[in-house]
Amino acid sequence: MVIAMKSVSVPRASLTVRNLDAATKQALRERAARAGHSMEAEIRQLLEQAVGREPAMVSRTGFEGSAGVAVSAGGNAAAGLAGKRIVVVIGGGIAAYKSLDLIRRLRERGGLVRCVMTPAAQQFVTALATGAVSGSQVFCDLFDRAAEHDVGHVRLARECDLVIVAPATANLMARIALGMANDLATAVLLATRAPILLAPAMNPAMWANPATARNVARLRADGMAVVGPETGEMAESGEAGTGRMSEPLAIVAAAEKLFKPQPGPLRGLRAVVTSGPTHEPVDPVRYIANRSSGKQGHAIAAALAEAGAEVVLVSGPVNLPDPPGVDTVHVETARQMQAAVEKALPAQIAVMVAAVADWRTEGEAAQKMKKQVAGGPPVLRMVENPDILKGVANHPMRPGLVIGFAAETERLIEHAREKLLRKGADWIVANDVSGPSGVMGGDVNTVRLISPAGVEEWPTLDKAQVAQQLVERICAHFRETPVTA
Ligand code: CTP
Repeated sequence: MVIAMKSVSVPRASLTVRNLDAATKQALRERAARAGHSMEAEIRQLLEQAVGREPAMVSRTGFEGSAGVAVSAGGNAAAGLAGKRIVVVIGGGIAAYKSLDLIRRLRERGGLVRCVMTPAAQQFVTALATGAVSGSQVFCDLFDRAAEHDVGHVRLARECDLVIVAPATANLMARIALGMANDLATAVLLATRAPILLAPAMNPAMWANPATARNVARLRADGMAVVGPETGEMAESGEAGTGRMSEPLAIVAAAEKLFKPQPGPLRGLRAVVTSGPTHEPVDPVRYIANRSSGKQGHAIAAALAEAGAEVVLVSGPVNLPDPPGVDTVHVETARQMQAAVEKALPAQIAVMVAAVADWRTEGEAAQKMKKQVAGGPPVLRMVENPDILKGVANHPMRPGLVIGFAAETERLIEHAREKLLRKGADWIVANDVSGPSGVMGGDVNTVRLISPAGVEEWPTLDKAQVAQQLVERICAHFRETPVTA
């Protein structure tokens, strides 16, 4: 075990415990078992503490000792729990005997395990056995001065990646649900920011009790994961029903699942986003354009993809890289943009961010227009471009959520509300693009989200944050509204 292998800076004398009385030996044996090291090491530590020295053999986090044993015991470093610091809280139930196997399985997969036992748990399995299986100090007492000196319960709670409560008894879950901290186990659970996985185990009648059901619902609502309990024969003879703790491998699988990246909230949804300006040709060398940089639209496409949506970005000419994980279609004109958007349907989300040119010249000149000496500058006759947003909002394959932008230089809300109605969008993101705003081409944006429900003012954010916030709103919308398109 690493504790014994660590380089020791204090000169050591040989120690013998032979002449100590039986009670002292027993007390030392128990202390050493809880600390997960030999009696000799325990005595050395006590002596070092007595003379005011930092105990050289104490692992500062405790996880190092566990890691050394896990690897030397053939732990699979490539496994799903490799390097994960896991605190196993053992509650007081007959299923506690299975927790020893759970610890072994966690370590086999490279987990670095430390154990906390409730006083009741120690009635079912000993700290000696738990320390031996975990290869690390076992923590039992909230007021254990040696343990507090070593890591302390807050550090124990903080410096871990997962807390597993197995068995999670009815009593322990009730105390966790109440936010109590009247023993080390509940204090750790209250102080930790790591995910918590509960493996309930109790008598079927206790599991079926409405009080337990309430507590479990509370704990789930608080964000804790629950595995089991299973239905079948209970450890107590003659008892059967639901309440048996899940098998160690099922608990390990649930733990591994918590470490896997979760599928994005928009997984399974398709989004079409427009971005940038359009270029409307006048002749082979000239075009009509606008100042849009595409930064906001591209940021929204990227944020949607990050949230798991399948994204088609229809981009006008911009000076930006294609966002990762996004299918980007490059277009020049409004009509090309419209065609690409329609081709991307059906989709569940449309975010039309592009600054589409409202007009194009009637008939692009086939040859470069020449300056005419007589007659002065040419007069360009303009025709209206298709309104892509309006077309999508009124399309037979209309996406469930259609969002437009309103870039205004005056009467922002009034114009944006009018656009919401005229174009048939669900939401309009309105922004002031007047000269001093610096929005066109800039990195920040001050927007208002306009929907039939009202106007929401957002603070000035950078465009990536606006994108993030909008995508959070989109996620919330799809949580509340079932997908129809
Ligand atoms: N839009 C569009 N197709 C157009 C014009 C605009 O899809 N031909 C979309 C934009 O992508 C944006 C919204 O409509 O989501 C509003 O664009 P904006 O230029 O502010 O509005 P216009 O309809 O062009 O109205 P106006 O120029 O009078 O403000």
